[in-house]
Amino acid sequence: MRVVLTGASGQLGAYLLEALIGAGHEVSAWSGRAVGERCGIKLRPVELTDKRALEAALASDDPEVVIHAGAISAAEAVRRDPERGRAVNVGATLRLADWCAERDRRLVFTSTDLVFDGSRPWWREDDPANPILEYGRTKRAAEPSVLAVPRGLVARVSLLYGFSRCGRDGFFDRAINALRSGEPQVFFNDEFRTPLDYASAAAVLVNLAGSDVTGVLHVGGRERVSRYDLMRRAAAALGHNTDLVRTNSRADVVLPEPRPADVSLDTSRLAQVWPEWEPPNIEQALRTSRGA
Ligand SMILES: NC(=O)c1ccc[n+]([C@@H]2O[C@H](COP(=O)([O-])OP(=O)(O)OC[C@H]3O[C@@H](n4cnc5c(N)ncnc54)[C@H](OP(=O)(O)O)[C@@H]3O)[C@@H](O)[C@H]2O)c1
Repeated sequence: MRVVLTGASGQLGAYLLEALIGAGHEVSAWSGRAVGERCGIKLRPVELTDKRALEAALASDDPEVVIHAGAISAAEAVRRDPERGRAVNVGATLRLADWCAERDRRLVFTSTDLVFDGSRPWWREDDPANPILEYGRTKRAAEPSVLAVPRGLVARVSLLYGFSRCGRDGFFDRAINALRSGEPQVFFNDEFRTPLDYASAAAVLVNLAGSDVTGVLHVGGRERVSRYDLMRRAAAALGHNTDLVRTNSRADVVLPEPRPADVSLDTSRLAQVWPEWEPPNIEQALRTSRGA
């Protein structure tokens, strides 16, 4: 496939690029501002909110498939600048969707578990999405434009974990590095997700990009765990002192926005469309990861 990957310079993008190249696809790796190479491919900076730059880049790369992972992905950044958050996460997605719809190209959009309000566990694709974080509201607002693309897929991805391959530390690197240097780390015991490691998420998304699955699909792990459980198990799997992994509650912290308590995803549809795929648990995923 001839693929444009937006967000190729990001955390998930680095893993997606590796998976796409490994599968023999021809990839144009778009970044926002980052320059240089990833996996031997030159990054192409394309400001997604710049209509003319976006259209010119699409015209020259002429992708059969767009995997759209570019976004302002930090909830706090979107809260601080919701206008910019909307321009990137909603406006740019709409333009990409229009381009794909007009030419019958495939579009795979990485949405998020944070489109749900977190009031109960195990959210299904057809459950009402009622985001309570501004970041979740922007991702949710982008979904209809992708669903209007005849070959569009909204992949709602769970919390991702694993070591960064994009040259910039993520939450997981920072936490594990701190534990490695003996600093205690505190995680919520009352915020639940169905986390998935980056490499598995990338493998699933690349497989889906080459499929004819459309609509909304939940992509996550099968275990529902708290952030505390995730990081305690990760620390143990990586041989770090689990006594340094401490627990607190969301109620102990003054948060700028309320955080959804439980956005665990029901992934039965994914199991139906790809029955052979068995997501690794936290220990299995980290055993094969580079930083272990
Ligand atoms: N990580 C997770 O746990 C998770 C969970 C669910 C869904 N997702 C979704 O997965 C996708 C990737 O997340 P991530 O964690 O990999 O994010 P990330 O590390 O923050 O990467 C974001 C990417 O988007 C690019 N970007 C940002 N603003 C842009 C703009 N205006 N124009 C062009 N490119 C722009 C960045 O480019 P530069 O850095 O080069 O500027 C970077 O490549 C996002 O859509 C996110 O919503 C992530």
